[in-house]
Amino acid sequence: MTDLSQKTDKILRVNNLQLAYGDYEVLKGVSFHALRGECLIVMGGSGCGKSTLLKSMVGLLEPLDGEVTVDSQNIWSLDVDVQEAVLRKFGVLFQGGALWGSMNLLENVSLPLEIYTDLNPSEVEGLARYKLNLVGLSGYSEFYPAQLSGGMKKRAGLARAMALDPDILFLDEPSAGLDPVNSHRLDNLINELKESLGITFVVVTHELASIFDIADYSIFLDGKKKTLVDQGKPADLRENSKFEEVRAFLHRGIPALEK
Ligand SMILES: Nc1ncnc2c1ncn2[C@@H]1O[C@H](COP(=O)(O)OP(=O)(O)O)[C@@H](O)[C@H]1O
Ligand SMILES: [Mg+2]
Repeated sequence: MTDLSQKTDKILRVNNLQLAYGDYEVLKGVSFHALRGECLIVMGGSGCGKSTLLKSMVGLLEPLDGEVTVDSQNIWSLDVDVQEAVLRKFGVLFQGGALWGSMNLLENVSLPLEIYTDLNPSEVEGLARYKLNLVGLSGYSEFYPAQLSGGMKKRAGLARAMALDPDILFLDEPSAGLDPVNSHRLDNLINELKESLGITFVVVTHELASIFDIADYSIFLDGKKKTLVDQGKPADLRENSKFEEVRAFLHRGIPALEK
């Protein structure tokens, strides 16, 4: 069931964002938005500020200037308790996002539910099992992270990021370190979750196959200019971007899976 009105709903807006670590400026003048139920890709070379941008969007790095607006609320101008409630709408899977090694998968996914909800233990377990099932790991709930392959760990991390039913899932290079088969499997899972649950995705990646497989829209950050230089659908940018570097980035070989 597709609600057409959804596709014009700007769930996340970033306006004129300026980010720095102390005196070291990383990005400035960054503006874009993500539509509800779509997948937005953040692209750009190593060190251009993709992870930094993600941190500012999930409430971890306060901008020097600009706004990050979610459902019409600027997360950086809210009182702490209201900000916490807004941030609860987010799920985050960080680069190399580790599971807790001393807990099995069921416990890993249960923990956010135990901390942030009033559900009783059997409700928590039921929901955690449901999330593991969503990512294809229902048979592994008693396994510990060290017993899993890289792809399974990523999927378990995704299940944990989804524990609290987020409206937006932020993933930082989710397929880093995965072989092409597992990377493709993760892309399929992202597409499935987007379609079936209507989750909005913001995904940092520079893997072309992923970009063309999962993106509805994309933004390109330039590390030298320290800003967002172009945005659009990847296939459009690849052919029509005014910026040679953007076209070159998207032309690094023919992606196997073009949308
Ligand atoms: N905690 C930090 N303190 C100081 N500088 C940082 C920190 N994290 C990242 N940087 C610097 O900020 C720039 C952007 O980093 P990052 O956002 O991690 O890039 P990307 O994710 O695109 O590879 C880089 O020059 C990096 O060295
Ligand atoms: Mg990064």
